[in-house]
Amino acid sequence: MSSDRVVLAYSGGLDTSVAIGWIEQATGMEVIAVAVDLGQGGEDLDVIRQRALDCGAVEAYVADAREEFATEYCMPALKANALYMDAYPLVSALSRPVIVKHLVRAARRFGASTVAHGSTGKGNDQVRFEVGITSLAPDLKCIAPVRDLALTRDRAIEYAEAHHLPIETTKHNPFSIDQNVWGRAVETGFLEDIWNAPTKDVYNYTDDPAYPPVPDEVLVTFERGIPVAIDGAGATPLQAVMELNRRAGAQGVGRIDIVEDRLVGIKSREVYEAPGAMALIAAHRELENVTLEREQARFKKGMEDRWTTLVYDGQWYSPLKRSLDAFIEDTQRYVSGDIRMVLHGGRATVTGRRSDASLYDFSLATYDAGDAYDQSQARGFIEIFGMTSKLSARRDSAFGAGVDLESEHLKLR
Ligand code: ARG
Repeated sequence: MSSDRVVLAYSGGLDTSVAIGWIEQATGMEVIAVAVDLGQGGEDLDVIRQRALDCGAVEAYVADAREEFATEYCMPALKANALYMDAYPLVSALSRPVIVKHLVRAARRFGASTVAHGSTGKGNDQVRFEVGITSLAPDLKCIAPVRDLALTRDRAIEYAEAHHLPIETTKHNPFSIDQNVWGRAVETGFLEDIWNAPTKDVYNYTDDPAYPPVPDEVLVTFERGIPVAIDGAGATPLQAVMELNRRAGAQGVGRIDIVEDRLVGIKSREVYEAPGAMALIAAHRELENVTLEREQARFKKGMEDRWTTLVYDGQWYSPLKRSLDAFIEDTQRYVSGDIRMVLHGGRATVTGRRSDASLYDFSLATYDAGDAYDQSQARGFIEIFGMTSKLSARRDSAFGAGVDLESEHLKLR
């Protein structure tokens, strides 16, 4: 056996457990298993580490990346109000780059030439892993045993049983699930018929919004675009997300069911739940409504969409993403203050906002006493603002064109 090594992104599940021996057999390389904790919950990570060793890994390594993930990956997404197709808060897309970083770090530490991941050939995640790895370490090679080494589920079960691997092979969850502290993604099984409604067992982070407990009022304090306190108690980004996952989850906030355009060209049905992320984005957006200058806000909307698509498409470490980060970061200078929200029955509704950096001017907005806005100035403004419309309308009428006023419907002459 050569001494070349491969670092495997290890989840503790059947596929990646079997992949350890499978890769060794197919390539002759030793396998180092790396599991990354992103707040996905579930099994104890020491158990997962031991399982990797029992399945034949020469080293197994668990990285606690929860704070790092929340601070350096989820918070930029919050600043960008990142919702792919106006709906999906990038749960899996955000997690791949942080996993990639830990894989590359392990590859360097253990002198590996290759990185392996458990993605199939049909999804976005393979792209995110491999483009991420090539962006951080262009010299590293990538393999995906499920895709490249024909590791099907049936063969995995066969292999695990033949080799007495310490892993459950009978219990088969009908869904493919990926989860972390920012949310949960569920696909496959009967959800592949896009007419089928999700059943109760699809959900885990949220309770049924149809039977909510009493309304829950929450105060979120932001500094420069990120949450720093919940109900006045200081919180790290991770703590803020976890607290809102719990409270918004109890109210059924953040359930999402969409057909989504994958990078590989497939439309796929995805069910997500992201209670904390969706509540935070609602609060952050409203604080931006109060604190961003109008043109900056309008321009940012386009940049948010570009940022979100880049991240969805696996370009986290790309130059354009870095440039957009600089722009978005600059917009957050005054996004500080408090948002009050009511969480109830599947909704996170903003009911109050206050900020020392607010651009809301009561004396300009009021229709009551104390009005400081000089309405007589509006006439001149409209005269000049409407000038181009007036000129083109005059030309239309000179040429017999324009809107036909005699027609029942809007019609052009
Ligand atoms: N479609 C989503 C995305 O590309 C979620 C993928 C989640 N992966 C999974 N195995 N369920 O970001």
